[in-house]
Amino acid sequence: MKKVALLVLGVFVLSTPALAFHDEGVAHCNGCHTMHNSQDGILVDADSPMGNPYLLVDSTPSDVCLGCHADHLGAVFFDDVLNPAPLKGAGNFIFLLEDNINDGHNGGANPISGDAAGHNVNAPGHGLAADGTLATSPGGTFPASVLGCTSCHDPHGTDAFRMLYGAGRLVQEFYTFTNPSPEAEGLSIFFGSEANDSHTAYKGGMSAWCGNCHGDFHNEAGGALIHPSGSTLGGTIAATYNLYNGTSDQTGGTSADAYLAAVPFEDAANTTSSTEGPTAASQVSCITCHRAHATSAPDATRWDMNVTFLHEDGVESGSYLIPDPYGDLNQRSLCNKCHNKDEFDHNPF
Ligand code: HEC
Ligand code: HEC
Ligand code: HEC
Ligand code: HEC
Ligand code: HEC
Ligand code: HEC
Repeated sequence: MKKVALLVLGVFVLSTPALAFHDEGVAHCNGCHTMHNSQDGILVDADSPMGNPYLLVDSTPSDVCLGCHADHLGAVFFDDVLNPAPLKGAGNFIFLLEDNINDGHNGGANPISGDAAGHNVNAPGHGLAADGTLATSPGGTFPASVLGCTSCHDPHGTDAFRMLYGAGRLVQEFYTFTNPSPEAEGLSIFFGSEANDSHTAYKGGMSAWCGNCHGDFHNEAGGALIHPSGSTLGGTIAATYNLYNGTSDQTGGTSADAYLAAVPFEDAANTTSSTEGPTAASQVSCITCHRAHATSAPDATRWDMNVTFLHEDGVESGSYLIPDPYGDLNQRSLCNKCHNKDEFDHNPF
């Protein structure tokens, strides 16, 4: 089935020099749809002899997207849980297949399944199913049973960042987003990978966007005592971020190259190659601590929140070790980038 789909797509790709497909809008329909579930007399979606509800080339929307995006064009589901494709920003759904991502004390004996590695997409053709623990988006009401690529990305394209849905849009024909798509600019999905001088430029609005499904989950409005998101850093925290250059060099940083792709903040001045640290007006955001797809840590966090030293990641569980951006055995949690609580600690290594 996959072969036939690729064949059909191959014709298109060859005839398009820029290798574009969506082109910030609706791509040619038969890249994703089949009218008769038949090409050259062969079933296009062999898993569904009677066809499938949206006349798609594969059984579910997410399987269709993964047909092109699993192993290239962002490689969001590739390939080996211990040797994942390079990061672009959103993170890799491959970690959903992990049997254990618990690197806390005794984590080996108390497994946390890859289910918790991030957003579970319903793509049975790729071995992926809905979350086994969460029935809805915490803080909101979006049903986990139908969560997939097209819960966040518009299959028919938009000119928004990464074709994300925005305010007023009806998603999957049943759910309305109330907040706009975020202001951001991403790396090319054809080449390159995330680094401190090459990263998504998060400009604003990500926290509100996540709030389309997570409600006021991390919103202090109404007096909730939770970590701020979509709030300004203020001068003290911005200064800490700029000075902090790792556990072993807590005040040696300079604002000109303080940007840490592992701990991003939102600022209208960010560009995909900016290395400038934050100002008091920059914002802490959901994306400061989480990736949008999945990571090899519980709750899709950017670094493992259950370890004391970052090099301990992956040890208990045998899962992928999220690289320590400072490459230092003494490096503690990256929360310190903004709060510097590893001050006065003993550095054992
Ligand atoms: C990138 C893949 C992709 C392309 C290209 C695409 N579609 Fe779709 N389409 C989907 C998916 C996936 C759904 C299922 C609904 C969902 O998940 O949002 C869908 C649903 C639909 C629906 C039913 C639901 C609705 O939104 O009205 C229609 C009609 C439709 N597509 C028509 C088209 C037409 C016409 C074109 C070409 C102009 C096209 N599509 C191009 C992926 C695509
Ligand atoms: C036929 C192959 C193909 C299919 C199927 C496909 N894509 Fe794409 N996608 C591409 C190509 C090629 C690009 C890069 C060029 C472009 O944006 O047109 C791309 C780009 C993207 C981007 C980045 C856009 C940007 O502005 O940076 C996103 C997000 C994306 N696709 C999501 C999806 C989703 C969601 C689906 C399923 C509904 C899907 N794609 C189905 C080929 C495909
Ligand atoms: C279209 C709705 C939707 C949007 C938008 C959305 N989420 Fe979710 N999220 C869900 C659902 C549904 C679940 C529960 C099912 C699951 O985890 O797969 C969830 C679960 C999560 C989890 C817990 C994962 C786990 O398995 O423990 C985190 C963390 C999370 N979301 C963060 C975010 C962040 C950060 C954003 C914005 C970048 C975001 N979400 C945007 C629907 C959404
Ligand atoms: C919960 C919402 C959500 C779901 C579900 C989701 N995406 Fe994304 N996706 C995003 C966001 C947000 C970004 C931008 C993240 C960033 O740059 O930090 C993104 C980025 C991307 C990119 C750009 C490359 C990258 O890694 O940043 C591609 C390609 C993509 N998504 C494809 C997919 C496909 C295919 C699926 C389904 C298998 C999917 N997405 C499911 C929210 C989602
Ligand atoms: C300062 C870091 C930080 C920020 C900012 C942040 N989170 Fe979290 N998030 C975490 C940590 C750590 C956890 C693990 C559970 C905990 O500590 O409460 C978590 C857990 C979650 C969960 C899983 C909850 C569950 O019941 O399983 C969701 C969903 C989530 N965050 C969504 C969001 C959204 C949406 C935003 C932005 C509005 C956001 N987070 C902002 C650090 C953060
Ligand atoms: C991008 C910077 C940034 C990062 C990274 C960050 N925070 Fe925060 N944090 C803030 C801001 C801004 C505030 C609000 C401070 C204020 O209102 O004075 C805050 C407040 C807090 C508070 C409440 C402090 C108080 O005075 O009431 C705690 C606790 C906290 N953060 C813990 C964490 C933890 C744990 C992490 C890592 C999971 C983390 N933060 C990551 C920026 C950050």
